Amino acid sequence: MIALSLAEIAEIVGGQSYDIPDPSVQVTGSVVIDSRLVAPGSLFAAFAGEHVDGHDYARVAYEAGAVAVLAARAVGVPAIVVDDVQGALGALAREVVRRLGTDVVALTGSSGKTSTKDLIAQVLQRHAPTVYTPGSLNNEIGLPLTALTATSETRHLVLEMGARGIGHIRYLTGLTPPRIGLVLNVGTAHIGEFGGREQIAEAKGELVEVLPQDGCAVLNADDPLVRAMAPRTKARVLLFGEAEDADVRAENVRLTDAGQPSFRLHTPSGCSDVTLRLYGEHHVSNALAAAAVAHELGMSADEIARALSEAGTLSRWRMEVTERPDGVTVVNDAYNANPESMRAALRALAAMGKGRRTWAVLGPMAELGDESLAEHDAVGRLAVRLNVSKLVAVGDREASWLQLGAYNEGSWGEESVHVSDAQAAVDLLRSELRPGDVVLVKASRSIGLERVALALLDGGVEGEVAAR
Ligand SMILES: Nc1ncnc2c1ncn2[C@@H]1O[C@H](COP(=O)(O)OP(=O)(O)OP(=O)(O)O)[C@@H](O)[C@H]1O
Ligand SMILES: [Mg+2]
Repeated sequence: MIALSLAEIAEIVGGQSYDIPDPSVQVTGSVVIDSRLVAPGSLFAAFAGEHVDGHDYARVAYEAGAVAVLAARAVGVPAIVVDDVQGALGALAREVVRRLGTDVVALTGSSGKTSTKDLIAQVLQRHAPTVYTPGSLNNEIGLPLTALTATSETRHLVLEMGARGIGHIRYLTGLTPPRIGLVLNVGTAHIGEFGGREQIAEAKGELVEVLPQDGCAVLNADDPLVRAMAPRTKARVLLFGEAEDADVRAENVRLTDAGQPSFRLHTPSGCSDVTLRLYGEHHVSNALAAAAVAHELGMSADEIARALSEAGTLSRWRMEVTERPDGVTVVNDAYNANPESMRAALRALAAMGKGRRTWAVLGPMAELGDESLAEHDAVGRLAVRLNVSKLVAVGDREASWLQLGAYNEGSWGEESVHVSDAQAAVDLLRSELRPGDVVLVKASRSIGLERVALALLDGGVEGEVAAR
């Protein structure tokens, strides 16, 4: 964080100082909520969680070098006391970002936020110092904590924004007002909490409503609910996608034999060829979104294409490819799943597995409501059409739909199996995998199918894992 005295911080957050002998002492380090991350010069923000209360760690934090604690009550060590610690953290972030004058890029969407944010960060870093959300810390606490890591060097601040209801994005944009706002897609994630797709679009679209006139709304031309957000903003609109009228678009999209998408990138300032190091064609949309943001910030098509082609995965379990020493390739995409990314992952598996045996270890896709049966059935059928050698459907009802879809498409017998849980899948794979096989593992987050991928890697036939 930029250096601020305790007196300044107290004023910004409207707090009262307790046990502070010298209010001119400055916070020079980071703002943290976990006392184990405190370093000399930190400000420790005490949150009362479900299981632990940060206030109980105030002294530990102070002894580890925290200058003071941002707290809801006096804690016996220097503290700035406020009614609402979360609100105070937000106010501090808002003021720091305002003083720095850093350009904020905010992005939201139902899926692909973290993947796209990681791409944007890797592209913009080529251009100027960039601070970005680590992992998926996209809520009312993670977002201000990230913003507070910006320094006077920071030119771009790239922030992932998550929403579980109406008003959430508006709240986050109030903390770090963006100049560039990107909406990726409106899917079905958290549809239960929202009530329906229209409500999700309503909530995500709050991002473009807050953009200033000299700002830019970057919208997915291929998603009708996102495209329809254009009239909700005063800002200029930049469309990305495969649609003909998109400002930033991809042509000749194909998958290489390794399963990595390659395409010709068109931007208003030129064209250039891209081959991603990421797997699965859903990343084309993510890459185009990143390209549109980079274009808006002044990068040329060549610079963008080069940066995209060199970008790797910064966050785990998203099409994470590992070669085992025995030649088995494990593709861990167990972070999450929806119908579109299931199809993309299966196509990538088919491309990577040419001439090899391919295994699709698939579990339920959550939150599909009435469409659940049809979507699972369709994924099962696609596995057969893509010639996947063996489908292992893991779980209860949804898994039986996956298997039935496969069975009906190809009258499969032994090529598809239904197992009840992750352990059963591991046991099966351990006994049947042969050198050279490719295994994809994918399902919605809640089932925890990454355990299968991790078990295959840890307990690999030859033991040790080559690369993680
Ligand atoms: N453009 C996309 N379209 C559809 N699915 C995608 C897309 N990009 C990624 N995914 C899928 O979504 C999963 C989660 O990706 P990612 O973590 O990037 O999304 P997220 O929006 O940040 O999720 P969260 O809401 O958990 O933060 C991936 O494993 C992949 O299956
Ligand atoms: Mg995320």
